[in-house]
Amino acid sequence: MKIGIIGTGYVGLVTAVGLSELGHEVTGTDIVEEKIDMASRGITHIYEPGLDQMLKKNLKQGNLSFSSNLNKTILSSDVLFVCVGTPQREDGSADMSFVEEVSRKVAENLNAYKLVVEKSTVPVKTSMWIKRTISLYKKSEIDFDVASNPEFLREGSAVSDFLNPDRIILGAETDKAKDILKKIYEKFKDRILITNIDTAELIKHASNSFLALKISYINLMSEMCEKTEADVEQVAKGMGFDPRIGPLFLRAGLGYGGSCFPKDIRALTKIGEDLGINMNLLKEADRINLERISVYVEKIKKALWILKDKKIAVLGLSFKPETDDIREAPSVKVIQELIKEGSFLRLYDPKAMENMKEVFPEEQPQLLYAKSSYEAAKDANALLFITEWDEFKKLDLRKVKEVMANPIIIDGRNIFEPVTVRELGFEYYSIGRK
Ligand code: UDX
Repeated sequence: MKIGIIGTGYVGLVTAVGLSELGHEVTGTDIVEEKIDMASRGITHIYEPGLDQMLKKNLKQGNLSFSSNLNKTILSSDVLFVCVGTPQREDGSADMSFVEEVSRKVAENLNAYKLVVEKSTVPVKTSMWIKRTISLYKKSEIDFDVASNPEFLREGSAVSDFLNPDRIILGAETDKAKDILKKIYEKFKDRILITNIDTAELIKHASNSFLALKISYINLMSEMCEKTEADVEQVAKGMGFDPRIGPLFLRAGLGYGGSCFPKDIRALTKIGEDLGINMNLLKEADRINLERISVYVEKIKKALWILKDKKIAVLGLSFKPETDDIREAPSVKVIQELIKEGSFLRLYDPKAMENMKEVFPEEQPQLLYAKSSYEAAKDANALLFITEWDEFKKLDLRKVKEVMANPIIIDGRNIFEPVTVRELGFEYYSIGRK
């Protein structure tokens, strides 16, 4: 069985490498030549722990290859995983034009039975459109199936998530499609849930939106804590002991970012509204999340009074640790606000600096990219923690204090214990704690 992966972005590249690691013969294709060129040479265009090594290993073994020729990849594959982007449109809905384009290409190159598997996060009912498009454009009577196999991997731990999934969701209509997918995921047969296609599509959006809700909920509680004597870390811990709630995804902070949660919660809202359903629950979660930035900037103002001409060190630019991804990262909005206020910023991140330079070029007079946390902290009037990289947890705060102009920390991710930091002589502000 030959597998073709269409789109080698985050999900596609990990899927290509992961499926080849499971022993399948895989070809990845993309319209961006550079991605194909890099992947063919064993280089990943994203930072993802462990992905480089696994890519190199499978290229060498010969069961993984990359090609910029989409038509050829379709012609030579039995199963096609569609991993193209579904970006957000202005009204919040997902832009499905790449998926439509791929469906037409599949129709034009339908030389034998093929199973087309949606892996990109797509609105419920997408499979029906893919099926209709392929049927409309295909030139022969050759049969095909469409199925849904949503991806749940997290950035920063994508490789281990792929190789140790907590569930494999397979939405399929025909026995043939179900059998092919079961064979591909044979190794995880104890974790497979087979559903109809609408259900599989909805499981993905419903999962991400639920997790986003959980984060917004604890962030709302963090505001309650700040107005009372309660401590959000303890509230989360106390709630988490209840197995019905669970301890994960209850970290208060600057809110969720990344390429999935913000986009998916809006897409699901739009789908629901189009179906005539009141989706205010999700809208509220989105609003609470967006509000995290202004709440945080207010904290900085409370600490510094006037932000104009203040030197501020910004540590952590990626939307979460262990990735260089800055899509929908809270750091971008915080930096925009501080630039508007006239502050001077020194930015540092272990992996995301190059990506950030594309948003805020080095020439920007109010910005400086530092080589380390200590360099960023030099002469600063305040130090911000935006992402909870391990590297920051291990900082020598005594050394940090020595180089700063004023020892003020505004911690957006509750990295430190307030007592410890204050004992070192810092003025310390965090989220939902005194
Ligand atoms: C998410 C889903 O977890 C994954 O299943 C899906 O396939 C893609 O979207 P990802 O975006 O990589 O993965 O990161 P995740 O670890 O889920 O974090 C998302 C955002 O929520 C990050 O900005 C993170 O900082 C934030 N977060 C997470 C919190 O603010 N608090 C938490 O308790 C957990």
